[in-house]
Formats: sequence, structure tokens, C-alpha cells
Amino acid sequence: MKYILVANWKSHPGSLDEAKRLLVGLVKQSANFKKLHTVIAAPNIFLDLVGSKIRSIGVLASQDISLIPKGTHTGETTVEMLKGLGVKVSIIGHSERRKLGETSDLVSKKLGQAIREGITPIVCVGEDAHDTEGRYYEVLNSQIRSSLEGLKKTDAKKIVVAYEPVWAIGKSAKDAMQPNDLSQMVIFIRKVLTEMFGRNAADQVAIIYGGSVEPGNARELLKSGAQGFLVGHSSLSAKSFVEIAKAILNK
Ligand code: PGA
Repeated sequence: MKYILVANWKSHPGSLDEAKRLLVGLVKQSANFKKLHTVIAAPNIFLDLVGSKIRSIGVLASQDISLIPKGTHTGETTVEMLKGLGVKVSIIGHSERRKLGETSDLVSKKLGQAIREGITPIVCVGEDAHDTEGRYYEVLNSQIRSSLEGLKKTDAKKIVVAYEPVWAIGKSAKDAMQPNDLSQMVIFIRKVLTEMFGRNAADQVAIIYGGSVEPGNARELLKSGAQGFLVGHSSLSAKSFVEIAKAILNK
């Protein structure tokens, strides 16, 4: 199995020059990325640039997908445009988009759109708080079910589920989820997927983790059974992103 490594640049870097520098750093070290399923999810404005250099690194992703069809829709980026730039993967339902009002219902519609358009969806789920009573299990259960609503059993293998507990995002390695806790969550997510799609299909869904993955904790976190990472802040430095790739390869 090849591990998945996703860079989620979010709304960074702040300029085209910085984006170019980051990309040069990644291309120089591309040998490390080739042994993984490496994905760069860049802001739409940098997709053209990243797309022109992505071949030696991996595949190009968008951070969202629009449901709006081709036409006169001011401010929208259509799927057709994304595909034209070489986008093969889309992050869907990231917690930062959910915070802006994106519901699981909308996430499920975007998921359907991605499947129809032949784009691999990375569907993000995760609880806001890891409370001591374990209520987060129920939160996650209903979020997974509603976000994947309508997904056919035969399409389940086409998706990636990114478990991203909101409380662990944007911190540092010491505040990230611990490997033991993460393995419980991976087992739980697989169980929910099994109830929804059956054992065979559920086993084919890749489950990755995101939330303060850094060079210092990547190796330990992989012991959880997660099949890769969605990396935010540590993907904005070529050096640390390469170190994470190496940590996965040397696990
Ligand atoms: P982080 O972000 O690595 O900065 O915690 C992860 C994410 O939000 O995708």
C-alpha cells in the first residue's frame, strides 16, 4: 500500500513568488514524494502554477468543489475550470469551510458532484471537542453518515476520508492527537463505514489523519493505522513537508 500525503496550503502563501519558491523546494526533493500518493491542494489562484510543476511530485487538488454549473456566476470557479487546470482530487467539507456555514448536506452534494466528475474526493470529518464522556463518537458517527449520504456502495472505494479533529488543527505536534487515541478513531470510522457500505467496500476506503502533523510526530501517528496525512501548516515549508514524507517512508 502506498501512503497518502496531502499538502493543504489553505489560503497560503501570500504571493505568487512565495508559492514559486515553495514549489521549487518541493520539486528538488520530488524523489521522496514519488513513493507516496502525494497531493498538493493549492488555492485556486495558484492551481495553474502548481499544475505546471506537479508531475514530478504527485497530483493536483483543489480545496473545495463548486456545485455551480458552467455559466454566468460571478465569483465561482466551476469544476470544468478545475479539471482544465489538471485538478484530480478535491478536499470536501474541511472544518474551516464547515465553520463558514457548509453543512454535511452540502458536503454530501459536493461529494456526489466529485464522483460524477471523476474527481477523487477527500471528505473531511472531525469533532470539535474530544470530551471525556466520549460524545465525540456520536458526533462523528452522524457527521460521517450525513456527509456520505447518497454515496453508492460501488463508489465507496473512490473516496478518501480525512479524520481531522478540529481541536487538533493548527496547533503543534505536542497538541496533536496521540497515536493510541487515533487508532481507536480509525477503527471507529472503519466500523461506521462497514455499517454503511459492508465490509468489503469499507476496507477499500483510505482513512487519513489531519491535525498538527509535523516532522516530529508523523512516524508515531502512522502506528495508528491511518493510511496517510492531510498536512496544513507543515506543508508550507518544503523542508518540513519533505521530512514528513521521509518519516512516512522510514516508518
Ligand atoms: P494543520 O492543518 O496541519 O495546520 O493542523 C490541517 C488541516 O486543517 O487540514
